[in-house]
Amino acid sequence: MAPIITIDGPSGSGKGTIASRLAGILGWRCLDSGALYRLLGYSAERAGVDLDNAQQLARLALKMDIEFREGLVLLNGEDVSLAIRTEQAGNAASKVAALPEVREALLTWQRACAVEPGLVADGRDMGSVVFPRAEVKVFLDASAEERARRRYKQLIEKGLSANLQSLVAEIRERDDRDRNRSVAPLKAPDGALIVDSTALSIEEVLELVLARVHETLPNLV
Ligand code: DC
Repeated sequence: MAPIITIDGPSGSGKGTIASRLAGILGWRCLDSGALYRLLGYSAERAGVDLDNAQQLARLALKMDIEFREGLVLLNGEDVSLAIRTEQAGNAASKVAALPEVREALLTWQRACAVEPGLVADGRDMGSVVFPRAEVKVFLDASAEERARRRYKQLIEKGLSANLQSLVAEIRERDDRDRNRSVAPLKAPDGALIVDSTALSIEEVLELVLARVHETLPNLV
């Protein structure tokens, strides 16, 4: 079975950056599971499907033709990389992600990503539900204010509009929903390396994670 490293944490904790850097270093595949929920939220809003209609959303999830290619996210062949990064798509994602039927519908797709030589998967429940047998589990956190500042910078760099104060409020609201939902809530899985990245650079976080990978899989790095 392909080795797996999971990186879970709230929005803006830096897990996406760390996961893709790590996958690059190891030459492994990278799964951005949040993009799947974002794609579903985005598709649902476009198709006029209510964000609490579990049955229709699960059907829509199974119908989506998703491809990650050269840094782009394609939905039914269309490049939606930017469209799914908006705060609106993030909020829609968080709503549909609270439904068990939706999570179940996206499980097979996610597990199929575990291919040789290995997978780095980032999200909320990668180490707890989707890949409980992962060799290395990491939980990345940071204060809500710092995460809002990072998101603000990312959005502005992408040419999207943003407001720092409303980002803090939205991040708090989303955290609350992700941490308190009944299925697969956001929490550190047992045995995870827990890193608070509030005052750390990407390089410093990467160093801590690589040290854990080296400890557990000494032949890799
Ligand atoms: O990581 P992100 O901000 O792109 O994720 C968007 C939303 O998707 C987030 O609010 C919660 C949900 N999500 C989830 O429930 N489980 C995952 N494994 C990944 C994301």
